[in-house]
Amino acid sequence: MPPGRPKVTVTRKLPDSVEQRLSALFDTVLNETDKPMSAAQLIEAARVSDVLAPTLGDRLDAAFFEAAGDRLKLIANFGAGIDHIDIDAAIAHGVTVTNTPSVLAEDAADMAMALILAVPRRLVEGVRALEDGKFSGWSPTWMLGRRVRGKKLGIIGLGRVGQAIARRARAFGIEIHYHNRSPINPHVEGELEATYWESLDQMLARMDIVSVNCPHTPATYHLLSRRRLELLHSDAYIVNISRGEIIDEAALADMIAAGKLGGAGLDVFELEPRPNEKLMDAPNVVLLPHMASATIESRIEMGERVIINIKMFADGHKPPDRIIPGLE
Ligand code: DGY
Repeated sequence: MPPGRPKVTVTRKLPDSVEQRLSALFDTVLNETDKPMSAAQLIEAARVSDVLAPTLGDRLDAAFFEAAGDRLKLIANFGAGIDHIDIDAAIAHGVTVTNTPSVLAEDAADMAMALILAVPRRLVEGVRALEDGKFSGWSPTWMLGRRVRGKKLGIIGLGRVGQAIARRARAFGIEIHYHNRSPINPHVEGELEATYWESLDQMLARMDIVSVNCPHTPATYHLLSRRRLELLHSDAYIVNISRGEIIDEAALADMIAAGKLGGAGLDVFELEPRPNEKLMDAPNVVLLPHMASATIESRIEMGERVIINIKMFADGHKPPDRIIPGLE
C-alpha cells in the first residue's frame, strides 16, 4: 500500500461515529444510501481502492478477486463471519482479510439465550395469542411449555460465542455439552463443566437443545443434515444464530411440520433473507431477521475493529484480526 492516506471504500452504511472516524483517518468513500452494491459495483470499487470494508452479503468470490486489479490490498470485513469471502482467492491475489471477532460475542450470546428460553417457553406464541384476543383467563393446562432447568444443551462450536452462551445457560441450570474438532482448553471446559463429544451424532441423540455456533465453511455446510436431524429426539429444540447454511433448512421444516422436533429458534436462514415458508407457519418456531449482534454498542465496536485493522495494516503492521487460512 502506498504511504499516506489509503483509499477505503465502505460498502454499507455504518454508525455515524464510525463513518466520521473512518473519514478523519482515511480517504474514505461511504455508502450513504445503504443500498447493497452489485457485483460489478464491488469490482469497480475494488479497482480504485486500497482497502474495501465489506459486510456479509457482499459476495467476494474468486471471480471478484480475478477482476479486482492490483490496487486492492486489504479487505477489512465489518462482521465476524467471512463465508462471503473466498479467502484462498484473496491470499492468492495478495489481499489480506480481517474480520471483527469477539466484540459481538456477548450480544450474540444474549440473543441465542433469548431463543433458548423463548422456544421451549412458547414466548412468541403467548404474545401472539394475547394480541389475537385468544387469552380468556388463566388456565392450569394452557400454554404449557417445557422447563429449561436441568436440560442438556449441545453446543456445536464452543468458540467465543458458544462459550458466552454456555455461561448464560449454566446460570439457568442447563447442562453444557459440546462438539468441536478438538476439546477446548481444559480450564475453560472445567469452568463451564462442559462435556466434550467427539462424535456429533452421539451428542445429538442425547441433547434436549442444540445450539449451532460454528462458522459456515465447506466442511460445515448442511452439517445438520436430514440424517443428523433425525438423530434428535422428538422434543428437542434447535437454535441457530450462526449461518443458515449449516442446517438443511428444508429437512428441518419437514421435521417440524411432522412433529418430529420440539421447535426451533432461528436468527439466520439458508436462503437469506427468506426463511422456508413452512417454518413461517409453524407455531413452535421463532424466526428473527439476522439480528443477534444488532446492538448499537456492538456495531460501534465492530467499526472500531475495522478501523484498527486498517490503521495497523496501513502503518505496515500485521492487523490483529487477520484471517489465517485453516484457522478461520
Ligand atoms: C457476523 O458478524 O458475521 C454476524 O453474522 C453479523 O451479525
